[in-house]
Amino acid sequence: MNVPAHIAIIMDGNGRWAKERGQIRLKGHQAGMEALHDIVKACSDMGVKVLTVYAFSTENWKRPADEVSGIFALLVRYVAKELKELKANNVRIRLLGDIAPLPDAARKAVLEAVNDTAEDTGLVFNIAINYGGRAEIVRAAKQLAQQAKDGSLDPADITEDLFAAQLYTADLPDPDLIIRTGGELRLSNFLTWQSAYSEIYVTDTYWPEFTPEKLTEAIEAYNGRDRRFGGIKA
Ligand code: FPP
Repeated sequence: MNVPAHIAIIMDGNGRWAKERGQIRLKGHQAGMEALHDIVKACSDMGVKVLTVYAFSTENWKRPADEVSGIFALLVRYVAKELKELKANNVRIRLLGDIAPLPDAARKAVLEAVNDTAEDTGLVFNIAINYGGRAEIVRAAKQLAQQAKDGSLDPADITEDLFAAQLYTADLPDPDLIIRTGGELRLSNFLTWQSAYSEIYVTDTYWPEFTPEKLTEAIEAYNGRDRRFGGIKA
């Protein structure tokens, strides 16, 4: 099996999973957090270089306040519960998104996770929090415009590589495979720049039920894809 270097996941379907069980939506996110534990471990064991998960989008603030605060509380719990094992597995945590508006406890927890794993050399585990692909592109454009204004950059020198270096994913390969659970056929503002040539795999399975076996199925489907990057088959 050819393991993708970078797998990105839209962890959708937590709410529907909970509803089908007569439980509140937050129970679905809680079960989703447990599913995530197994997927991170599986990616680390398989030798995936980068795993990126969409934990909270710039649009998710529109949800009821108790669900939003519940997701951030889960994030705090996730770090408290998992940090030791992540470190033991040499996993390095990075963040994608603007964490400034997060509640203090959540911001502190994720920064602690980033700092404590900064020297780890195994799986790079990107957690997208308050992330939006368009916001990320606007941020990059602003950074380059500022450099041009300061006189340290000639706009004529802006290339795709230079632009990509301003993104949260600077230095990381683009996702080879984007998995979306929960059946919706869209990217929802996730990795808008980086997904240009990603293979997309959608499964109806709700995120809490997405197991390492299902991850293997997704990778097998990916292995059957013919990636041409705009060229023709050799
Ligand atoms: C989408 O399902 C899921 C989210 C918006 C939150 C994802 C959060 C977790 C998996 C748990 C916490 C994460 C970490 C990193 C600790 P949905 O609510 O849109 O489901 P629905 O489409 O069925 O309503």
